[in-house]
Amino acid sequence: MKRSVDEITGNRRMRRNRRFEWNRRLMRENVLSTDDLIWPVFLCEGTNVEEPLEKLPGVHRYSVDRIGEQAKMAQNLGIPAIATFANVALEKRDQTGSEVLNPDNIINQATKAIKDAAPDVGVITDVALDLFTDHGHDGIYRDGIIVNDETVERLAEASVLQAEAGADIVSASEMMDGRMGAIRDALNSAGYEMTGTLAYTAKYASGFYGPYREAVGTEDLLKGDKRTYFMDPANSDEAIHEAYLDISEGADMIMVKPGMPYLDIIRRLKDEFQVPTLAYQVSGEYSMIMAAAEKGYLEEERVILESLLCFKRAGADAVLTYFAPRVAEMLNG
Ligand code: PBG
Repeated sequence: MKRSVDEITGNRRMRRNRRFEWNRRLMRENVLSTDDLIWPVFLCEGTNVEEPLEKLPGVHRYSVDRIGEQAKMAQNLGIPAIATFANVALEKRDQTGSEVLNPDNIINQATKAIKDAAPDVGVITDVALDLFTDHGHDGIYRDGIIVNDETVERLAEASVLQAEAGADIVSASEMMDGRMGAIRDALNSAGYEMTGTLAYTAKYASGFYGPYREAVGTEDLLKGDKRTYFMDPANSDEAIHEAYLDISEGADMIMVKPGMPYLDIIRRLKDEFQVPTLAYQVSGEYSMIMAAAEKGYLEEERVILESLLCFKRAGADAVLTYFAPRVAEMLNG
């Protein structure tokens, strides 16, 4: 015997709360605001350079003398923080990424320029060596392996130089074991107890980083992949283990990367630890949206906002996104 819809639902009608915009607004559990945005920017050598990136339509690389105006714009848009990456000239790259220890390298110069131009914007630097190695790996590469402990020593030293240049938060995106503790200790001994640390806790060996490699110039340098140090996309419990270590070692914030394919990991980490948890909407995610929008397959602004709101719903406190300035403009009306 068939039951009527009314017998099945009884008095419960979920659609009552969705009838009008005003009640959808009342029922809304999560909101996206400019306060949730961190803007990753790409730097390059030279002066007065602003070059578009082919695989990241709408994203540019800026020379250091041009980054101040971008930071000021971010500040005016209400974007809380900027994360810096760079395309470092080949002649400055080597096997061990020694340029990371140059106090006047492009990243440290950019930190000063951003701080000068926009003192209210937080600066997040990264100690990973991929910007400075001639093989594009994130650590020191020797005899076919990425050497962990020697890399960690280098990262710790670099973190002090980045703090000295004015970085508010030093991040570590290279997934070496023990790095968060070493970085914390190094910062503390150098008198930077209040400089924050961000751990790229669950960074996966992902195909979604493709376009980033164009942006930082490692496309043709990188041989092999990063599977011996980044996490396996098949794993989830392992992210909990990683987060436990990073937090125990003193990390102030943790991060999941990439973002959208890993929303389940964000939720698990937030539920498990309740610490500030960031997500990185990586280059490939940006490119997918832009490419589909370009073809007319997706509504660009709508999916941009939806993709970012979904990070909030999953439990992220903030999102690194190349869409940051655009989204801030949209949100500010
Ligand atoms: C490596 C690093 C990567 C990204 C930022 N830093 C990944 C990689 O090179 O393997 C990717 C960011 C993106 O795709 O947007 N330290």
